Amino acid sequence: MSSHAPSSKRQTVPGVRKRKGGKRLTMVTAYGYDHARLVDAAGVDLILVGDSVANVCLGHDSTVPVTMDQMIHHAAAARRGTERALVVGDMPFLSYTVSVPDAIRNAGRFLKEASCDAVKLEGGKEVEETVAAIVRAGIPVMGHLGLTPQTVSMLGGYRVQGRSALQARSIVDAALALEEAGAFALVLECVPLDVAREVTDRLEIPTIGIGAGPHCDGQVLVFHDLLGLGRGGHTPRFVKRYAELGDLAVRALEAFVAEVQGGGFPGPEHTFHMTEGEEEKLPGALSVSTRGAVADGLVTLSPDEDPGPA
Ligand code: KIV
Repeated sequence: MSSHAPSSKRQTVPGVRKRKGGKRLTMVTAYGYDHARLVDAAGVDLILVGDSVANVCLGHDSTVPVTMDQMIHHAAAARRGTERALVVGDMPFLSYTVSVPDAIRNAGRFLKEASCDAVKLEGGKEVEETVAAIVRAGIPVMGHLGLTPQTVSMLGGYRVQGRSALQARSIVDAALALEEAGAFALVLECVPLDVAREVTDRLEIPTIGIGAGPHCDGQVLVFHDLLGLGRGGHTPRFVKRYAELGDLAVRALEAFVAEVQGGGFPGPEHTFHMTEGEEEKLPGALSVSTRGAVADGLVTLSPDEDPGPA
């Protein structure tokens, strides 16, 4: 078999679509090789290289500043850390709304340069044409409705969307439009559970919820939220922290500081020794000037002892 054949273990877009109404889908964000390896090893179905990288890895206070080049850099690293999960690249702010050709080119970069399997973009009817064009170009698209963080200023803040019947109706209509445009799945963020249920029941493609209640076909969480890696700040109500790795990490780092300062690290087990018999020769070797000796060929310097993998 050619070494270029796709891994038979990897989730596929048709496979994700088939999970509609069946075994719940799981998606977790990852922003690099290290995160992705952990998420993949846990058997999560989809990895989203989210534009939330802007907040959780790059320290911005919104997703708006992250660029296409930065997204590609993170997506390529994350994809290298996976064997099984379907990897979705999140199209950043203004990468798909300036023009349709621009959107196709940017979506294509996630596949060509980062080996992603699909892209995600935010918005409803206003991106319907763009979604259709990207799908026609052969690039699977995941939609994203409800709270759309890239346009948070237009929404008046990070708040639940679709609380009124009219707003709920427009979310349902937008979801149907995205399905019609060819989206293979849809993220529903921060919408009331009744709205999520209505959308889920009406669509043939799976819905993946975040703050959208239990009726979606799947659930997504941000890696740092799920693992308790973010320290301080506000934890949204829809987040369940399955661990407190941030606290654990700080305790480990504090222990390192204390041991280095107290002389407990490195111990004998972390330390290298000279080849047997060489230590006694050291004072003599140090008493001759190697400068001239090396130049005259009287002394040869041996390569350093191999320290082994870091
Ligand atoms: O970027 C992201 O993390 C997302 C999820 C919240 C769905 O879009």
